[in-house]
Amino acid sequence: MQVNIPLKKVVDNSYDITIETLPKTHFDTKVAIVTNPKVAGLHLAYLLSKISAKEIYIITVSDGEEYKNQKSIDTIMESLFNHRFNRKSMLIAFGGGVIGDMTGYAASVYQRGIDFIQIPTTLLSQVDASVGGKTGMNNSYGKNLIGAFHQPKAVYIDPHFLTTLASREFGAGVAEIVKMAVTFNKEFFTFLESADLAKPEILQEAIKQAVQTKADVVAKDEKEHGLRAALNYGHTFGHVIENETKYKKYLHGEAVAIGMVMANNTAVSMNLMSEDEALRVKKLLQKYKLPTSYDVENSSSFYETFFLDKKSSDTNITFIIPVGIGDVTITDSIEKETIISILENFGADV
Ligand SMILES: NC(=O)c1ccc[n+]([C@@H]2O[C@H](COP(=O)([O-])OP(=O)(O)OC[C@H]3O[C@@H](n4cnc5c(N)ncnc54)[C@H](O)[C@@H]3O)[C@@H](O)[C@H]2O)c1
Repeated sequence: MQVNIPLKKVVDNSYDITIETLPKTHFDTKVAIVTNPKVAGLHLAYLLSKISAKEIYIITVSDGEEYKNQKSIDTIMESLFNHRFNRKSMLIAFGGGVIGDMTGYAASVYQRGIDFIQIPTTLLSQVDASVGGKTGMNNSYGKNLIGAFHQPKAVYIDPHFLTTLASREFGAGVAEIVKMAVTFNKEFFTFLESADLAKPEILQEAIKQAVQTKADVVAKDEKEHGLRAALNYGHTFGHVIENETKYKKYLHGEAVAIGMVMANNTAVSMNLMSEDEALRVKKLLQKYKLPTSYDVENSSSFYETFFLDKKSSDTNITFIIPVGIGDVTITDSIEKETIISILENFGADV
């Protein structure tokens, strides 16, 4: 006898992303705010003036990508157990993408999963990392190799936090905004070309459009079976650059900026993008002081490093190649010679 029992979707994991000054909010449960000393020093008092709860605890972990690891997760977990958090308790991720990813991961595994909300404080985390439910941490084998999809209950994006952000960190966030526009939204790209993101109301509009773009993509492909992979535009090349420079020379968004230029050159060589369109993207990146050149010392070893990427298989490399501005193709069939030639001819800035 065959019995089929349909498991209907029992959980609605949709949520609101609010872009405005943080509203006063009370949570009728135990809450832990996970943050780092830098963000706490700059902005915790402001947060606590807005947020109240039955009980509030602050958990601080060290600042930096190198602390996005099991030790920091253990620190978070121990605090939750010590304060007897239960399945109705909640975490708040208060910081950049590092804090957001780790807090989300801790929330996904603590007692098989508790709620969390995102209050991102860097531009990159406001437009990208806080939206879409990818959580995780690094280990000695690489970045973000351990993690889970766990959607937040809400995302509060308050541009006020960005006033204290270092300018390079700001630029790194702009790179991810440009990424969303080039891959999915031509009008948004044109808007960015004439926009001055130093102006708060223009910045808020750009954040809104970038978040909307990402939310639309995630809604169609939450677990990255297809479309969502397009958001890795610039990342395939960028990850190699980060790896070659030992994660020290460039911020992630900066490496992605160079990676986008490399992907564009590939697109031009395949007649998928005009030289003029590639130049427009480069100019937009340069407007925000993002790097657009890189000295490829050894194109063969650069190519071999692609295979360390978790999106590559043993034999194929997945490339995200723009089709003009506002569209994109995901392909794993680009000839090695094509990529080597792009890398060998990757020249100095124009
Ligand atoms: N989950 C996702 O979908 C996703 C997407 C993109 C990136 N990420 C992850 O995000 C991380 C990068 O995020 P990031 O760029 O925000 O880096 P980050 O979290 O390390 O923050 C960068 C620096 O800015 C500081 N900072 C944070 N807010 C500040 C503020 N308001 N004023 C001054 N300084 C502030 C931080 O303390 C840190 O020193 C990476 O680990 C990456 O893997 C995740």
